[in-house]
Amino acid sequence: MNYNKKTVKDVDVKGKKVLLRCDFNVPQEKDGSGVITDDKRIRAALPTIQYLLEQGAAVIACSHLGKPEPNFEKWVKKQTEKGKDPAELTEDKWKKSLSKLTLAPVAQRLGELLGKNVQMAADVIGPDAQAKAAALKSGEILLLENTRFEKGETKNDPATAKALADLAGANGVYVSDAFGAVHRAHASTAGVADYLPAVSGFLIQKELDFIGGALANPKRPLVAILGGSKVSSKIGVINNLLEIADTVIIGGGMAYTFSAAKGGKVGDSLLESDWMDYANDMVKKAEAKGVKLLLPIDTVVADAFAPDANSKVVKAGEIPDGWQGLDIGPDTVKLYCDAVSDAGTVIWNGPMGVFEFAKFAKGTEAVAEALSKTSAITIIGGGDSAAAVQQLGYADKMTHISTGGGASLEFMEGKELPGVACLLDA
Ligand code: 3PG
Repeated sequence: MNYNKKTVKDVDVKGKKVLLRCDFNVPQEKDGSGVITDDKRIRAALPTIQYLLEQGAAVIACSHLGKPEPNFEKWVKKQTEKGKDPAELTEDKWKKSLSKLTLAPVAQRLGELLGKNVQMAADVIGPDAQAKAAALKSGEILLLENTRFEKGETKNDPATAKALADLAGANGVYVSDAFGAVHRAHASTAGVADYLPAVSGFLIQKELDFIGGALANPKRPLVAILGGSKVSSKIGVINNLLEIADTVIIGGGMAYTFSAAKGGKVGDSLLESDWMDYANDMVKKAEAKGVKLLLPIDTVVADAFAPDANSKVVKAGEIPDGWQGLDIGPDTVKLYCDAVSDAGTVIWNGPMGVFEFAKFAKGTEAVAEALSKTSAITIIGGGDSAAAVQQLGYADKMTHISTGGGASLEFMEGKELPGVACLLDA
C-alpha cells in the first residue's frame, strides 16, 4: 500500500467547504448521561481543525460514535436474539437507544477545546445538515450527527457518500483525519472520496509516517512485541511481522497456545487448540526466515482468574492442573527487556499479561518501562497497549502511540486500509 498521500497542506481550502472525517468515537459514562470519560480523540483532531479554520475553510466535521442500529426491524431482531421480549421492543425504545449515541456532547467538548462555537446538525445528510452546511461561513465549524444513524454508512452506499460530499458543495474538499476508522470501508471513510478531492489531515499523516515508516523502512534491528489473549486475533500481525522484523516476541495469553503446540503443559491457561498447528507453522516460518522468535521461559500462574488469586512462578510448559498463566515470569521479563535494549525500532501490540489485575501487570509494566528507556523508535499500537502505556505514565516517553485500535492492528497486518487507499497519492 502506498503510504505517501496528499495532505491538507497540498490543497487550497481558503473559502471552501471541507468535509472532515474525524474519529470522535470517544468513551462515555455507561449511565447514558453523555459524559465523555476520555477526550484524547477529540484533542487529537484539533491540529487539523485549527489549521483548516485558520486557512479560511468552513469545516463540516463528521464521525461515527458506537455501533447504533439505524434500521428498526434489524434492531428488534438483534435485541430479540439477546433475549429481550419482542413485545417491549417499541419504536420509542429504539429511538432512545439511538439518542444515547448522539454526537452533541462531542460538539460541546470540541467547542470548549477550540474556544469557539461548534454548531450541531440534527441529522447527517438530512434537511438540517443541508441547511446548516449551506449557511456555513469561512472560519466556522459544524458537526454532523453520528454518521452511523444513516443506513447507508456502513454499507458504503454510493448515494449516502454522494449526499455527504454534496454538503461541501462544488468546490468542496474531503479531509480524513479519522485514523481509528480507516480500516472501515464506509460511506464517510472511503466512499465519499469518489466525489471530492481527498487528502489526509495531520493525524493520519503522522500515523502513516510512523507506523508506515516502521513497517516499510525500519531502523534495525526491528523488534516486534506481540501480546494479547488470543492467537486467532493476532494471526495476521504475527505472520506479517515475521516477514519484516528481526525479532518477534510473544507474550500474553496467546503464548500458552504456542507452549502447548511445543508439547508443554499449560494447565487451565487460555488455550486455542484449533490454532496450535498455526503456532507451529509460525515457529517454522521464523526459523526459515532467520527471525528470532522469543517465547516465555517462565510464567506467573494463578489458582483463579481473579485479582487476588494465589500465584507462583513456574517454568513455561510446566503449568500444573488447576493453575493458569496470567503473566510472563521474571526470567522472561529479563529476556524480553534485553531484546529491546539494543533495538533500532520497537513495535508493541498487546499486553504481556492480565494487566487489569495489579498482581499480574508486572510483565506489561516492565516492557513499558524498558521501552521508555530505550533509544529505539518506539511505536505503540492502539487499544490495550496504548492504554497500558498511558496508565503507567510512560506516554510521553514513546515515539508514537497510535490512536487506532483495529486500524493499527490491520496496518501492522500489512492490509490495505480503505480510508487511506482512497486518498490522493502525493
Ligand atoms: C475504534 O474505536 O476503534 C474506531 O473508532 C472504530 O470503531 P468501530 O470498531 O466501531 O468501527
